[in-house]
Amino acid sequence: LHVAVLMGGWSAERDVSLMSGADIADALESLGHRVSRVDMDRNVAEVLAGLRPDIVFNALHGTPGEDGTVQGMLDIMGIKYTHSGIATSVVAIDKELTKRTLSAHGIRVPGGEIVASKSLYQADPMPRPYVLKPVNEGSSVGVAIITDEGNYGNPISRDARGPWQEFERLLAEPFIRGRELTVAVLGERALAVTELRPKSGFYDYDAKYTDGLTDHVCPAEIPSAIRDAAMATALRAHQILGCRGCSRSDFRWDDEKGEEGLYLLEVNTQPGMTPLSLVPEQGKYIGLSYAELVQSILEEAL
Ligand code: DAL
Ligand code: MG
Repeated sequence: LHVAVLMGGWSAERDVSLMSGADIADALESLGHRVSRVDMDRNVAEVLAGLRPDIVFNALHGTPGEDGTVQGMLDIMGIKYTHSGIATSVVAIDKELTKRTLSAHGIRVPGGEIVASKSLYQADPMPRPYVLKPVNEGSSVGVAIITDEGNYGNPISRDARGPWQEFERLLAEPFIRGRELTVAVLGERALAVTELRPKSGFYDYDAKYTDGLTDHVCPAEIPSAIRDAAMATALRAHQILGCRGCSRSDFRWDDEKGEEGLYLLEVNTQPGMTPLSLVPEQGKYIGLSYAELVQSILEEAL
């Protein structure tokens, strides 16, 4: 097949996407496909029209590659592509819409509310500890945990204009104590549960992409009831949102509350495929090499 790997772009996760894309392109070549590497810019439609690939492997993260925009463009051009389609992407990129949709189906999600960034300089939007996050970023870009002791991540200051001005819509959520879990879904199968144990205590951008800063425990050392609940919930979320190919659901688990303490935070429709990423790791756990994982994501889209 002639596969165009779309990567890069101009989201805050450009560098992550370039890492994902490079490894995906290498894997596709090792599988014998003809590969065109496309670093997305505003002329991407023209570039793809010239290349006429059989299929696009979408290795973009964030906007506009994960939010339905690129999906709509490819639909109009009649080019097949990997991962989720337009409607799923529009909902899943938005953490608030995702929570509303999934909680309507009985999935436990943290409460929370959209807050105006300027109001943050006047008062806490909810009792501490809480988490502030842009509704539509990935890789923990712009995420802060506000506690009584201080802030992890981008500090907000009450008297200065801070980094929050950059983000259009912010979500405030109660901080859920406990543990960080994630589950990949490939096709119609939840693969495993991984626990992330960041050495700093906060699984932020650096902890995600710097080797050695986070221990990945796969399979997670958790009770089987929690493992089963997390895997079933990830699969249901994938199905409710209509995800295609591959997704990854991220959870917090308050281990003092048993199964009632398991909260789904978000569903990633374009999960990372870098050397430190979690979907490839869970693929390995079930016996899939990186190249086999890439091939199965491709096949889901054909
Ligand atoms: N947003 C990053 C790429 C992830 O979910 O893996
Ligand atoms: Mg995410």
